[in-house]
Amino acid sequence: MAKAPGSIRDSICGYLQTIGGEGSIEEISRAVVAQMGATSPSSIRSYLNNNVGKSFERVGRGRYRLKANSHDFTLLPAKLDLGPVVIVGKAKLYEADCFEWLASEPVSSIHACVTDPPYGLLEYTEEEQEKLRKGRGGVWRIPPSFDGAKRAPLPRFTVLDENDRLKLHAFFKRFGILLNRVLVPGGNVVVASNPLLSHIVASAMSEGGLEVRGQIIRLVMTMRGGDRPKNAHLEFPDVSVMPRSMFEPWVVLRRPLEGRVQDSLRYHKTGGFRRISDEKPFRDVIASQKTPKREREIAPHPSVKPQSFLRQVVRAALPMGQGTVLDPFAGSGSTLAAANAVGYRSVGIESDPKYVKVAKSAIEQLGSLQEIDPI
Ligand SMILES: C[S@@+](CC[C@H](N)C(=O)[O-])C[C@H]1O[C@@H](n2cnc3c(N)ncnc32)[C@H](O)[C@@H]1O
Repeated sequence: MAKAPGSIRDSICGYLQTIGGEGSIEEISRAVVAQMGATSPSSIRSYLNNNVGKSFERVGRGRYRLKANSHDFTLLPAKLDLGPVVIVGKAKLYEADCFEWLASEPVSSIHACVTDPPYGLLEYTEEEQEKLRKGRGGVWRIPPSFDGAKRAPLPRFTVLDENDRLKLHAFFKRFGILLNRVLVPGGNVVVASNPLLSHIVASAMSEGGLEVRGQIIRLVMTMRGGDRPKNAHLEFPDVSVMPRSMFEPWVVLRRPLEGRVQDSLRYHKTGGFRRISDEKPFRDVIASQKTPKREREIAPHPSVKPQSFLRQVVRAALPMGQGTVLDPFAGSGSTLAAANAVGYRSVGIESDPKYVKVAKSAIEQLGSLQEIDPI
């Protein structure tokens, strides 16, 4: 089908702008096809060649970037000059912005991604973190105590309006594009989400070029939902505004395969999920629980996830147990700890130095826990 005039140009520029750096013809073509459907490689190549010096610079054989003055954006260095901040076992944690890190990493260098991103867009900003630490105001709230137990702070999702949702979509689309770049074909992506927003994550990341493969349901009772109508609970005692949430969805995607599953397994060590045992395939419903107190004490982060769940997901994410698992929103390093526990190589990125400090000791301690309170 004929493409709208200018659509190939917009798609190429959009991709190069998102990665903020340079891309090869193959990467650019992949991004254009992911966005626009089948597009002839020759039209992409000729558009790039005809516009060298105008919109693009050629920075090596078959490699292009936007001209610095052609758009209002900041070019990233070709390679961020970062040393590993923390190395524990087979895990490396960098203190960086993961979007910058992803844009400057070599392509096809990561075999799976397991991560728990920020959702409110706001909740991990310096300002909101300061309010959380002071225990006053902002998007963090302490749920009412229940059965006498003190609750940990939770961010309010209801503060997201339509505009925030659009921003969230843009955030996850950009994340999908950048992740797609560094993953090897067939690489799995598992992203923590919530029932109100998982559809946005799935659609935005698939617009970024990843393929949606379903969801993993973490069976955990959260304190969300189930409440009677605010200020009218006596009048409507039999009504809950929303169902009490009993699960946390983790969106499953992958970089599309090149060839058959068996080819991907042979050449890239990706293309499936590692089985639990001969008899048991990995399953998409996992009985879980709140993160145990012991783990929250080792890793004081408001969103720390339990080792019992993470170890199962991380283990399954590399079908042959070979390769590197990435967590670009590493927080306290719980995914890296889980990777160490199952013997995998891992890389984490965390932008907040306070959480990098937490992770320094938490990766070791969480990773070496023997009794992880499985359900
Ligand atoms: C929901 S938390 C993840 C917590 C993690 N699951 C754990 O068990 O500790 C998200 C983390 O992403 C970090 N973050 C937010 N934006 C980031 C970015 N652009 N690059 C890297 N880290 C970021 C936040 O500081 C926060 O620690």
